[in-house]
Amino acid sequence: MRNVTKDNITDVFKGYMADDMAPRTREIMSSLVQHLHDFARETNLTHDEWRAGIAFLEGCAAIETEDRHEFVLASDVLGLSSLVDMLHSKPEATSSSVLGPFHVSGAPPLAYGGDMKRHYGGPILLAEGTVKDVDGNPIAGAELDIWQTAPNGLYASQDDEQETFSFHGLMTVGDDGRYAFTTVKPVEYTVPSDGPVGDILRACGRHPWRPSHLHYIITAPGYKSLVTEIFPEDDPYLDQDTVFGVRDDLVMTYVEKPASAFPEGLELSGKISDETFLHVEFDVTLAAAE
Ligand code: BEZ
Ligand code: FE
Repeated sequence: MRNVTKDNITDVFKGYMADDMAPRTREIMSSLVQHLHDFARETNLTHDEWRAGIAFLEGCAAIETEDRHEFVLASDVLGLSSLVDMLHSKPEATSSSVLGPFHVSGAPPLAYGGDMKRHYGGPILLAEGTVKDVDGNPIAGAELDIWQTAPNGLYASQDDEQETFSFHGLMTVGDDGRYAFTTVKPVEYTVPSDGPVGDILRACGRHPWRPSHLHYIITAPGYKSLVTEIFPEDDPYLDQDTVFGVRDDLVMTYVEKPASAFPEGLELSGKISDETFLHVEFDVTLAAAE
């Protein structure tokens, strides 16, 4: 097409794609460009606004490192990450929730009943539960990759004061599908807002807070892996998570119990000096692999 106009440019783009290209790539690119062009036409996008958009992308790229994933963060605060999660969540399984940019692979093994809190201050939280299939049968040998921030609201990768894998652990469940570990009660924290994503939040009059949570990735052969989070029901940010990660079935009650009720056989059994501890029971259901 020689005479490209604002009205035919979308069809011209589609016409430029080769007949023998991969069908899914054709579907994605056609839809992406359709929406992109419609967006520009609907908003009558100006040159300055187009330049601001390009500057945003360049700003994300400029600070992208192994430990700082600004593009992922952009997707998170725009709700795209959560939308993709929800599009592929299995209704029969526990809901999935954002992975976020702070997961670090290669966490050290954490034995059943192990402790991630160590010398850190803050209320002790005992988290336990069963990894099950959709019929309620335990999934022996499932792996739980667990991570959270330290009490200062920072992940290990954001904080020079922490060891690489502080508040990270990899637990393999036994034949009964049970997991249990102690940690410090997670805190609310802000997503990084010192980069281009922070500019977007401020431009939209939004805050950068996430409700407190524990992250899990649960994997087991023959099952669809699940990336999820657990939130306490009394968190003030549950209804305004800046990355849209909260789902009803992920909101749990943290029950305060006397130290005397702490179970036997865990790393901290008999060693709790606090008068109370918090307890959450969170079962995880995995759907069968497709
Ligand atoms: C997180 O929960 O680790 C997280 C998720 C999305 C953006 C930033 C952090
Ligand atoms: Fe997090």
